[in-house]
Amino acid sequence: MSPGTDPNLAAVVETTQGAYRVVVGQNILTMLPDEFSTAGLSGRAFLIADEALFPVAVRTVQETLEAAGIVTHVMTLPSGEQAKTLETMSHIYDWLASLRGERGDTLISLGGGVTGDMVGFAAATWLRGVAFIQIPTTLAAMVDASLGGKTAINLKTGKNLVGAFHQPRLVLSDLDLLKTLPERELRSGWAEAIKHGLILDHKLLEDMEANSDSLIALEGDTTAEIIRRSVAIKAKVVSADEFERGDSRILLNYGHTIGHAIEASTAYGTFLHGEAVAIGMGVAGRISVELGLISEELLERQEATLKRFGLPTRAPGLDTDELIERTKSDKKSRGGAVQWVLLDGPGHATIRRDVPELVVRTTVDGLVGV
Ligand SMILES: NC(=O)c1ccc[n+]([C@@H]2O[C@H](COP(=O)([O-])OP(=O)(O)OC[C@H]3O[C@@H](n4cnc5c(N)ncnc54)[C@H](O)[C@@H]3O)[C@@H](O)[C@H]2O)c1
Ligand SMILES: [Zn+2]
Repeated sequence: MSPGTDPNLAAVVETTQGAYRVVVGQNILTMLPDEFSTAGLSGRAFLIADEALFPVAVRTVQETLEAAGIVTHVMTLPSGEQAKTLETMSHIYDWLASLRGERGDTLISLGGGVTGDMVGFAAATWLRGVAFIQIPTTLAAMVDASLGGKTAINLKTGKNLVGAFHQPRLVLSDLDLLKTLPERELRSGWAEAIKHGLILDHKLLEDMEANSDSLIALEGDTTAEIIRRSVAIKAKVVSADEFERGDSRILLNYGHTIGHAIEASTAYGTFLHGEAVAIGMGVAGRISVELGLISEELLERQEATLKRFGLPTRAPGLDTDELIERTKSDKKSRGGAVQWVLLDGPGHATIRRDVPELVVRTTVDGLVGV
């Protein structure tokens, strides 16, 4: 199928491990068996799902595959970041071993980024690598985590320290799955979609502003189309910079320098990722204004859009010194310099390694610090 004839096709991600389709739409789980064979897959399916999707979504996926003659085994994982561990991995390996999973079989992730990262890592390592499919069930995973082939688990000493680049063979995002997602998780997911507009696509930002009511209500075709366009942006970036070697993939880190610091300094217990990123975009946006890269007006638009989607843009009361220390130890810093992703126009971003600490300190103090 060519993109022109397939309305659900959001992107084709090109990678050294092959190209894969990303389909986004309403009520499209039924397409899974066809997409399975279009992706060149055969053999059994090992469906690994976040237990929050049990029983309805899990059964729907299983029955859809089995009705098409694809033998499907099912395992559920405990929900939440605290389950993204070596211990959970070892349960997955034991389960695959007990069912004699083979090279030609396919792992399928049904869940948010936590499940996708773990199932992806299991697929990267089981028998030195088997195929896997992402069926993201959070908005954050649809527009971000399911794309790009980064897989990982956490150690006690830090998040995502063990992982691999392993590309899925298919990403299928059925927006109907979002109906059960808690509203706060949904809002958090919008942060990454808005980010894509802010850094790379002014038209997307405008359309998100203009259609915010429909988007928040997850209404019909508009939502599907906007999510497809947001997905296409990430897909394009990861196609161009598969292993995060150049600068282009770093642009996706807009809002994340302070966002990660906020999450870590609050022990991942106060803010959801998208909320921390929204606050981080508030800080990075303000720094962009201070350095004369963007107008006050663009920053106001960013704030208004984030607020419209129920996201915070500041969080007074955190420790400025601690946040700044944490930005310096962020694993994406290079050669000791903090890499700031800043806006330098609407739908345009730049990477700066020379932002004066005084500007950072003053901004952090004003928006999040004490
Ligand atoms: N690989 C990447 O490139 C990448 C990028 C960004 C984030 N991540 C990772 O993604 C993870 C965060 O993912 P997330 O934000 O999707 O969170 P998540 O997977 O923890 O899901 C959030 C919550 O929603 C629940 N849930 C998921 N889908 C549901 C549904 N449809 N209905 C009801 N409940 C549902 C989950 O049980 C969980 O409680 C982090 O571990 C992060 O490191 C990876
Ligand atoms: Zn993020």
